[in-house]
Amino acid sequence: MVSRVIPVDPFDLVIFGGTGDLARRKILPGLFRRFCAGQMPKDARIIGAARADMDAAGYRALIAEAIAEFGGGRTCEDGTLDGFLERLHYVPIDARGEKGWADLAGLMRDDVVRAYYFSVGPSLFGDLAQRLNAHGMTDEASRIVVEKPFGRDLASAKALNKDLATYFDESQIYRIDHYLGKETVQNLMAVRFGNMLFEPLWNSQYVDHIQITVAETVGVGGRGEYYDKSGAMRDMVQNHLMQLLCLIAMEPPSKFDPDAVRDEKLKVIRALDAVEPHHIVRGQYEAGDEGPGYREEAGDPRSRTESYIAMKVGISNWRWAGTPFYLRTGKRLKARSSEITVVFKELNHSIFGEQQDHRNVLSIRLQPNEGITLGVTIKEPGPGGMRLVDVPLDMTFADALGEDGADQTDAYERLIMDVIRGNQTLFMRGDEVEAAWAWTDPIIDGWDARGDVPKTYDSGSEGPVDAVQMLARDTRVWRKVAP
Ligand code: BG6
Repeated sequence: MVSRVIPVDPFDLVIFGGTGDLARRKILPGLFRRFCAGQMPKDARIIGAARADMDAAGYRALIAEAIAEFGGGRTCEDGTLDGFLERLHYVPIDARGEKGWADLAGLMRDDVVRAYYFSVGPSLFGDLAQRLNAHGMTDEASRIVVEKPFGRDLASAKALNKDLATYFDESQIYRIDHYLGKETVQNLMAVRFGNMLFEPLWNSQYVDHIQITVAETVGVGGRGEYYDKSGAMRDMVQNHLMQLLCLIAMEPPSKFDPDAVRDEKLKVIRALDAVEPHHIVRGQYEAGDEGPGYREEAGDPRSRTESYIAMKVGISNWRWAGTPFYLRTGKRLKARSSEITVVFKELNHSIFGEQQDHRNVLSIRLQPNEGITLGVTIKEPGPGGMRLVDVPLDMTFADALGEDGADQTDAYERLIMDVIRGNQTLFMRGDEVEAAWAWTDPIIDGWDARGDVPKTYDSGSEGPVDAVQMLARDTRVWRKVAP
């Protein structure tokens, strides 16, 4: 199978925070891969803008190092790296002052797509937007890209939306949630809406419950200071897990276009029930062979921030009332494994008499080992009567699709190309983000008000035992966290 690479229009992409961690780890190595794939037109330019004083040669050297370190070992033909580096420019800039803005304005071309990537903390979003406008660097075709976290609660997200709306129309604002750029996350939509098989059964009449797991083996490491102010709820649930929940639960959009898809996602978020305190388990990892405990890494021996969360969520709408969604995510768990599992109900009558509980289970593995498994019930081979057994119908994309199935384009590179193309389907709309915070805020406020202390769990385990008990109370079990 051959990947199709459709070149994008010429562009000037300015990366504010162009020397930062995200730019070096993800954005620039991703752009390099798109260059290698032949997707970047000859006259595309990438302009790093940051506080540090350096010239274009210094910036090219910095990015060459970043590509060597974070490029994932993917190499292009000889000479290609130089060709990519030639496209890089650099402007030292002061986001809150005047330094550098006139130079940057002088560099921008009129006849190409202009995109501005705000790879900086949200406190600078308003300053950047205002200066871009004051220096006449935007028109109605310009785009801005903003990173998560988009606020830390509803009030701050509203304020950010308002700031950006002063200078940009919603159609120009690309709020990134990199989970939406993952190949298999988009596959959720393909599986649901590209097959006749699943959609008729995709409701509370046939689905017993759905599990969404995003398990990580890494701890918070050097990000302790940021993370301790966020916790798993703000860092993962409000955005990444929420997006997965929306894609799995939404009504079919009338077409695959930005607002049709985002309208349906928004309806799901608005239909989420408030979560009862006893339907949430928060956890914090302890020290283990894998490294120090959470509190040590966070630099606060009394920290009450959660590095793990498991919750039972209800959706009050016609399709899903009565079907619980169990969400969990955590750091320093047993394996890196993200998976969505749809557990169907038992048959209402078995013609085979008393048999063990047999039910169909559809699991969609997001990472690693991307693929889909459908558990089906068949006859156990051999004589001796009709005994039933469950077997997996397994499709691992790498096996089924060859190189294309395994060689996943990184989420960031895909999303940046979508920005250049002007396609907002895989970006969050302002009202979606606000609705997600409106649901999240009371949960976090409740913990603060009650002085809730997370349960501890062993590094390398499957999380706190309380999470197991939460499902046991509903006579259900979590899927094993396995790669
Ligand atoms: C980020 C979070 O948004 O997503 C991190 O801030 C988390 O804490 C990361 O580790 C997970 O992303 P991925 O692509 O590795 O699953």
